[in-house]
Amino acid sequence: MQPILEIDGLSKHFQLHEQNKLIPSCANVHLQVYTGQLTALIGPTGAGKSSVLKCVYRTYLPSGGRMVYRDAEGHRTDLAQASEHRMLELRQRDIGFVTQFLHCLPRRSALDVVCEPLVAQGVEREAARARASELLGLLNVPERLWGVPPATFSGGEKQRVNLARGLIARPRLLLLDEPTASLDPTTTERVIGLINSIKAEGVAMLAIFHHPDLVQRLADRVVELTPPVAVSDILETCAS
Ligand SMILES: Nc1ncnc2c1ncn2[C@@H]1O[C@H](COP(=O)(O)OP(=O)(O)O)[C@@H](O)[C@H]1O
Ligand SMILES: [Mg+2]
Repeated sequence: MQPILEIDGLSKHFQLHEQNKLIPSCANVHLQVYTGQLTALIGPTGAGKSSVLKCVYRTYLPSGGRMVYRDAEGHRTDLAQASEHRMLELRQRDIGFVTQFLHCLPRRSALDVVCEPLVAQGVEREAARARASELLGLLNVPERLWGVPPATFSGGEKQRVNLARGLIARPRLLLLDEPTASLDPTTTERVIGLINSIKAEGVAMLAIFHHPDLVQRLADRVVELTPPVAVSDILETCAS
């Protein structure tokens, strides 16, 4: 079986021009993600886990390495080199991202925020709303909130909206950044159920979990990241 995503030697650093410094956020990352499987990224805070997901979604432009994505037709795209246009196309049809925090347009109801990915794929709004209601119900978002913009929601409520939006469109590759970090045990169990069911439908996932217990229950592969060494540290080590 060929991986849907193969990351080879990925690195990302940020240049702080004022201080003439390079801040590494992930370095020399290798991993594979397969259809119907979940690859978990583990490692301490600051190891670069979120940065890897942001590079795959191209929120960050990688500094080096390759991230080869295979689409449904078997075409390969190196996400590190892909055009903005290709990335928009992939985000619309192929790659979903449940970010750690909900980012959405203000003044749109929770229901419409959750619908967005389906509507973008051409599904009729009423059908999309029906599916969104089902997911919000499943994730225990009280019905009185469905018509309200999520800006005023609690952390846990926002996270449920974020998850519902990420799960609604069945992307081929789903990126999950600590999707259950502020959920209660009952809702966490429902999310585990949802993740298992989309896995069975063939969705590939690259995920970060807050609890090692979730990694054990959900991961088919585990990749451990270690914090990258700062360039200035390397220079000091060489000098000493
Ligand atoms: N936009 C950014 N600008 C500067 N440094 C960043 C940025 N994003 C991440 N970093 C740095 O990269 C390192 C890894 O961050 P992150 O990927 O969030 O790690 P993790 O998710 O494993 O906790 C951190 O030291 C962080 O400060
Ligand atoms: Mg993180």
